[in-house]
Amino acid sequence: MSEMRQISVAKGDGIGPEIMDAVLSVFEAAKVPITYDFIGMGKSYYDEGYETGMTPEAMESIENTGILFKGPMETPKGKGVKSINVTARKVWSTYANRRHFRTIEGVDTLYSRAGIPVDITVVRENIEDTYGGIEHMLSNDVALSRRFITRQGSEQVIRFAFEMARKEGFKKITCGHKANIMKLTDGLFLDVFYDVAKGYPEIQVEDVIVDALCMKLVQKPQDFEVIVLTNLQGDIVSDLCAGLVGGLGFAPSTNVGDNISIFEAVHGTAPDIAGKGIANPTSLLLSGIMMLRHLGLLKEAAQIEAALMVTLECGVHTGDFGQKDSPSVNTREFVANVITNLGKAPQRTAMRKSVADHVEFRKPIRPAHQKVLIGDVHDVELEGMDIFFVDDKRADEIAPGILKHLPETMTLKTLTNRGTVVWPDGSVYTECTTGYGARIIGKGVTKTDFWNLLGQLSEVLNIASTEFLYSIDGKSAYSKGQG
Ligand code: NAI
Repeated sequence: MSEMRQISVAKGDGIGPEIMDAVLSVFEAAKVPITYDFIGMGKSYYDEGYETGMTPEAMESIENTGILFKGPMETPKGKGVKSINVTARKVWSTYANRRHFRTIEGVDTLYSRAGIPVDITVVRENIEDTYGGIEHMLSNDVALSRRFITRQGSEQVIRFAFEMARKEGFKKITCGHKANIMKLTDGLFLDVFYDVAKGYPEIQVEDVIVDALCMKLVQKPQDFEVIVLTNLQGDIVSDLCAGLVGGLGFAPSTNVGDNISIFEAVHGTAPDIAGKGIANPTSLLLSGIMMLRHLGLLKEAAQIEAALMVTLECGVHTGDFGQKDSPSVNTREFVANVITNLGKAPQRTAMRKSVADHVEFRKPIRPAHQKVLIGDVHDVELEGMDIFFVDDKRADEIAPGILKHLPETMTLKTLTNRGTVVWPDGSVYTECTTGYGARIIGKGVTKTDFWNLLGQLSEVLNIASTEFLYSIDGKSAYSKGQG
């Protein structure tokens, strides 16, 4: 007899309460041994003045149970408030977003009609990348985004993907990336991928540049099993994969961390159909099934998944999918069918072995303080500084002003504009914006020397930001300008 576990449940906005009630009624019928702490999150809490859309009690509940099961939520636009979804993923370090896209009986797609099976699991890094949202306007015309990719963040998500593959019997993992262009950021992610892969010799690995990956996914989706990617690329590839299997309504999503995990439907609040009782609960139900696996409730997860697949095989469908010539059912009727089918086995749908994901669930033990993820010690040397500034003059007019202030120990190597070298060489055809970069090299100089230089240069440059140039273990650790 399984022990009763408690989870935090936020029903959400729009169709959220309808589909959450539907899913919980299936759990009840399947005698799933969990209890629910219903918590306050969503639009009405923003309206009450909670900047993150959730009450302190809600946060406490999630930190106690370690599990948030949530319906879709509306983030008010243009009020300077934070997205509840993004906040939740970051604050609680749910570093891996796992989504499963597979051909589902009763869901008509180009691929199902062509007899091409799709069964792809996308594991996306969930915290870093441009989703750090670290953006600045350098002037009215120039916007800058910082993209953090860390070795530790990459390792967490990549290791999750390999552990999942090992446990669940996946044979191949593909790393999607753009390391041919973003040599340091995506290059780091790719290096970590191959480092981690060494510990899993039984799993076949490959890497594919993300644009080619998109084409291959459309041409031959059956060639892919597990794909691991950085955050933004993973976001886009996830939606592409959703399109292969009939849309977002059939793609469950889990955000997994070491302490807290979040399970949610990937679609939104569907305001156009909210309150009508006709929403499709499949995505939330599939996410709920992943949650049961995460909790180690494998028997219950397998039973409910089988019942859902039997229902879909029978052609039962809500209005948003399925055969147009057969009448659609409402949300209640749909889950009533699922409940009736509990205990039956699907005839045409291949079922995956029901195993827990790699995190052994335990209630979080509140840490005494934040954890710092630290790497090995390396030999880091200062080589120079990139200075980004805003100027409406040409590069050949700007350079003399900088050269005038440089001490003998430093040289102005290049001026770049949008990453292209425009001084001392450069094409007259290169169009420049007002956002420039000056690369100053100064071997043997200190950070203080650069801070002093910045003071001097402030007289001639409208400096926006700076970045030190290092070598790590003797290798230059910064990108070169193009051209
Ligand atoms: P949406 O996914 O809510 O709706 C897009 C279309 O799909 C609509 O026609 C809708 O009726 C339909 N649809 C969505 N889910 C359905 C379901 N379960 N059954 C039947 N039809 C369904 O996307 P939209 O309109 O862009 O966003 C609406 C709101 O949802 C926004 O406030 C947005 O911020 C929020 N949102 C929340 C998410 C979350 O909480 N994870 C994710 C995406 C959007």
